[in-house]
Amino acid sequence: MEKTLVLIKPDAVERNFVGKILALYEENGLKITELKMLNATEELAKTHYAEHVEKPFFPEILAYITRSPIVALILEGEDAIAKVRAINGSTDPKEAAEGTVRNLYAVSKSENSVHASDSVESAEREIKIWF
Ligand code: CDP
Ligand code: MG
Repeated sequence: MEKTLVLIKPDAVERNFVGKILALYEENGLKITELKMLNATEELAKTHYAEHVEKPFFPEILAYITRSPIVALILEGEDAIAKVRAINGSTDPKEAAEGTVRNLYAVSKSENSVHASDSVESAEREIKIWF
C-alpha cells in the first residue's frame, strides 16, 4: 500500500469542483485517510515547491497557490502515487488525457486544479509539510 499527497488548488476550490475531484479518486479505489481545508502560506508554498523556487514561473505559482483556500488530502491504495498522477493527467490541460482531472477542470498549465506527489520520496516529504 502506498500513500500520496494531493492538493486541490485554488482554481478548483473557487469553482466548486472539490466534490467532483474527490469522487474521481474514490471511484478509482483510492481511500481518503486525511483531509483538510486551509490557506497555503508563502512559507508552506515555498517548502512544498522547493524544486521550483528558482524557476521563472515561481512568483506566479506563489501568488496563485496562496490566493484562496486549498484542500489537502492523503490518499492510500495500491500504486497510489502512479494512479493519482494518471487520474490527474498531464501538467498542461491541453495535453491531459480525456476524463482526467486536468482535462475536465484545469484552467491553464499554471492553474491546473490539482497537485499530486510524483515519487515515494516526494510523498513522504510532502505529507510531512501539510499534515
Ligand atoms: O504539478 P506537476 O507535477 O504536474 O508539474 P510540475 O512541473 O512539478 O510543476 C508544478 C506546478 O507549477 C504545476 O502544476 C503548475 O501549477 C506550475 N507550473 C507553471 O505554472 N508553469 C510551468 N511552466 C510549469 C509548472
Ligand atoms: Mg511536480
